[in-house]
Amino acid sequence: MKYHYNISGSGDLPILLVHGFPFDHTMWDLLAAEISSDFRIIAPDLRGMGQTPPSEGNCVTMAELAQDLANLLDTLGVEKCVFCGLSMGGYVGWEFCEKFPHRVSAFILCDSNAGCDTPEAAANREITAQRVEAEGPAFLADAMIGNILAPETVENRPEIVAWYRRMVESNNAQGVAAIARGLGRRRDFREKATRLGLPVLILSGEADVLSPPPAMKVLAASMPDAKYVQISHAGHLAPLENPQETAAAVREFCRKLII
Ligand code: MLT
Repeated sequence: MKYHYNISGSGDLPILLVHGFPFDHTMWDLLAAEISSDFRIIAPDLRGMGQTPPSEGNCVTMAELAQDLANLLDTLGVEKCVFCGLSMGGYVGWEFCEKFPHRVSAFILCDSNAGCDTPEAAANREITAQRVEAEGPAFLADAMIGNILAPETVENRPEIVAWYRRMVESNNAQGVAAIARGLGRRRDFREKATRLGLPVLILSGEADVLSPPPAMKVLAASMPDAKYVQISHAGHLAPLENPQETAAAVREFCRKLII
């Protein structure tokens, strides 16, 4: 599998930025520009998303995506990284931390959680996958926008809305459908989270309705070494909607790892 990725910056601490669904690595561009003077940034497109081609089969699991990322790090000669995942990227991160604990120096969970889908939500993933296969992913842009961007972003920031739409609409139908099914089958890591032996930073936009701040605070409190930071003027895409505040939190957290 030939992965597409963007590398920027330099520094001793590589940070792997793993995008959400159904986006691509460009959702990190504004954040990467803020922090690449301090850290080496690796931002891949997951299998079947952005410019990375889909694989055979109609479902890709979070565990398979975690394995893909380990293979990518091997290719790049990176032994250990800070794993930073947004939403689905965080779900992949739980699998990565379980399978490759020696390769993670810290875990950043952006607008994400540790749970799995309810049976009803999982059934909806299959409906989504079939519709994407039939007509492409463009309908998702309208269907999801209220859950992804803060109302103030939708009203006042046409450039961010256009960025969001471009990512969703240009994605590959087969890739999006396969990952939708994988999301519906993802595992519940809530219990394991309470025993994760890593420094953790949990971030969420103040207007995130998919990973709302109260739930993120509960998750952070359940973990042995987790800090919670709320990002203002942002919904579910905090690194894109408010890259400056997200960068400040990531920078402060990661600098402590180096000292
Ligand atoms: C994401 O941003 O990755 C999605 O909201 C994840 C999901 O649908 O659960």
